[in-house]
Amino acid sequence: KQTVGIVGWRGMVGSVLMQRMREERDFDHIDPVFFSTSQTGQKGPEIGKEIPLLQDANDIESLKKMEIIITCQGGDYTKAIYPKLREAGWKGYWIDAASSLRMDKDAIIVLDPVNQNVIKQGLKDGVKTFAGGNCTVSLMLLALGGLFEKGYVEWMTSMTYQAASGGGARHMRELINQMGLLNGTVASELADPASAILDIDRKVAEKMRSSDMPVDQFGVPLAGSLIPYIDSQLDNGQSREEWKAQAETNKILGNMGSPIPVDGLCVRVGAMRCHSQAFTIKLNKDIPVADIEGLLAQHNDWVDVVPNDKQASMERLTPTVATGTLNIPVGRIRKLNMGPEYISAFSVGDQLLWGAAEPLRRMLRILLD
Ligand code: HSE
Repeated sequence: KQTVGIVGWRGMVGSVLMQRMREERDFDHIDPVFFSTSQTGQKGPEIGKEIPLLQDANDIESLKKMEIIITCQGGDYTKAIYPKLREAGWKGYWIDAASSLRMDKDAIIVLDPVNQNVIKQGLKDGVKTFAGGNCTVSLMLLALGGLFEKGYVEWMTSMTYQAASGGGARHMRELINQMGLLNGTVASELADPASAILDIDRKVAEKMRSSDMPVDQFGVPLAGSLIPYIDSQLDNGQSREEWKAQAETNKILGNMGSPIPVDGLCVRVGAMRCHSQAFTIKLNKDIPVADIEGLLAQHNDWVDVVPNDKQASMERLTPTVATGTLNIPVGRIRKLNMGPEYISAFSVGDQLLWGAAEPLRRMLRILLD
């Protein structure tokens, strides 16, 4: 069995990864060694078998003994440790949730239901560094993989509705605290059916604009509102999150030579952990909607093509339904007024599962095969 170092398993993405690894019995197939930045020498997590005490995640000598390292510790850790480890001559496989190494020419972005061929070729060529993709990109490609696989996408826009979890655990807590504060502000009026809705609305708006609103994480209210900007500002008008869409999509598909244009606006909404996206897709030929639905449905085991009908969309195409699952519902597929080659689609997916943890543990399993 291969020795696998696991770093950053206590954080939110790391915890989801651990849960999935337990469910899929990944630990049966490896000798795991858990690392910590703060609790060296203490007992590791309960995984149903004996494991060594926690090792120091900053100690290059201990990390060097690993055949594979999988990390959810974050970009700062990767930037600090990964170059040192390679400089020290470590030849092991590095599987990383962070974005730091994604665009590195020696790294592959892993999403095996979509780019199994790129991964397999990379392994043959001796690639040792694998990064999970940006959550919106991975979720988009699982939803629309059938169209990309056939080469039918000429260009695409993705307008996102991204959940609080993309910011982190504290952001999720802040969203619920904001919701609670607003509800509490008008609880007595809400209990009285005769109270005036415009009074309720005014009180809520005043509270949202007041300094009572907890905004330490998001900077501005999210509950009852939205935030039309995610991640840092670039010089070309895009946010960094928006820049990733085209860069990572084409890297995942192995299309760097002739990239498909992908662009749009990324928006934070008050969902918990499911990112939704509305797409405008320019196809390079006129394909009947039923054929498009068929292509998408047969592409992978997780995509759930929802018919473009109101009841089905409300029941099957929402964060409420997809949250905590590996299902990727995609629906609202129809021809747009712009012409027969223009279609819309809408997808939802759990940002912590397929958007973060799942591609990493699947890459681990590929290495163990
Ligand atoms: N950047 C994403 C977001 C999360 O803020 O929603 C991780 O890719």
